[in-house]
Amino acid sequence: MSQSQHWIATAGQPLRGTLEIPGDKSVSHRSVMLAALADGVSTIDGFLEGEDTRATAAIFARLGVRIETPSPSRRIVHGVGVDGLKAADGPLDCGNAGTGMRLLAGLLAAQPFDSVLVGDESLSKRPMRRVTGPLAQMGAKIETQEDGTPPLRIHGGQRLAGIDYTLPVASAQVKSAILLAGLYAHGETSVAEPHPTRDYTERMLSAFGVDIEFSPGHARLRGGQRLRATDIAVPADFSSSAFFLVAASIVPGSELRLRAVGLNPRRTGLLHALRLMGADIVEENPAIHGGEPVADLVVRHAPLHGIEVPEALVPDMIDEFPALFAAAACAEGPTVVRGAAELRVKESDRLAAMATGLRTLGLRVDETPDGATIHPGELAAGTIESHGDHRIAMAFAVAAQRSTGEVRVEDVANVATSFPGFDSLARGCGFGLAS
Ligand code: S3P
Repeated sequence: MSQSQHWIATAGQPLRGTLEIPGDKSVSHRSVMLAALADGVSTIDGFLEGEDTRATAAIFARLGVRIETPSPSRRIVHGVGVDGLKAADGPLDCGNAGTGMRLLAGLLAAQPFDSVLVGDESLSKRPMRRVTGPLAQMGAKIETQEDGTPPLRIHGGQRLAGIDYTLPVASAQVKSAILLAGLYAHGETSVAEPHPTRDYTERMLSAFGVDIEFSPGHARLRGGQRLRATDIAVPADFSSSAFFLVAASIVPGSELRLRAVGLNPRRTGLLHALRLMGADIVEENPAIHGGEPVADLVVRHAPLHGIEVPEALVPDMIDEFPALFAAAACAEGPTVVRGAAELRVKESDRLAAMATGLRTLGLRVDETPDGATIHPGELAAGTIESHGDHRIAMAFAVAAQRSTGEVRVEDVANVATSFPGFDSLARGCGFGLAS
């Protein structure tokens, strides 16, 4: 796919149908990592065939792990044990994936060999000291660029010691990197968070037989444990589902069913925010898949009104702000976002990218250092720069469903990092979306 790929998005039909959303990105990354470190063979079902998660799988193949793909979205991972990884023959490319790079930093810092982690243009600008700092406190040796960005040059062969670390910002990636390093460290490692974040690493380590204590906002494990192979069922990604939840909410006459979506409470802040705005979203067929709560989400069009997004919800919807901005643009009355400065260091500066894009379509958006106020209105035609950020591109494809004109979304190739097939799924249920 070329970087210059774009979409022409226009108001389409009422959105109708039953959708199967691809597997969760966070769970897919972790499933390959932990299965690789386990003793024995693990099968992963529902693996996200996105560029980010495939990059992680390709890295483990280069570290000497045999990974079979018997059919799409299925992986059979022949674990090599915690001490079985082998040095790669060159830099390891994490692509666009902050999760891949940050978690691997923790894991590779504990190996007896050196590694170099590189990423694409966006990842190469993202802050890494948030992981290299605590890892250095454990005894790791990792070099970054002078400004703390990748590449990461990891000097293996260090003896790591457990730490008690309190995260300065809520980050599941940093927590997970420390826990993975902690698996190899002498003594105990514990992490405390200012606000609980997604706990997939903790849940999955436990599923792989690791003795780990965790509760919202805390995790603690002892180094020197082994992992036992297990099978993983990856739920449908809530963050990918979010675009359809918003689209069906804002397009009159819509009704969509999203099948078996992962509803881990640390991911579903947007569901609460949309309901506060008046959205009509019903959960049906609740079940537990691979230890994670899932349910069908049935969403029908409903008039939305603006809200002050409760700050306590921010970490639980950290990836959903692009979608929320699209909903806010089509609501009645302003929506206020605060306490979301982390959005400035995601795949793009998401506060700036969404504010600028919505202004281009004719809205007033007041930006602050840690948020924005979105004043809804009629959306006009315009050309949107996605900054190569998958979620910005998808958010504007959604907003365009309520536009009076043609919205050209530039640079959409990276949608394949998290949601391959988004455009055909969207067209299939009624979106006006041409490539
Ligand atoms: C993720 C954690 C979040 C999220 C990212 C995936 C993870 O990042 O934004 O898309 O899988 O752990 P932070 O931990 O940096 O907030």
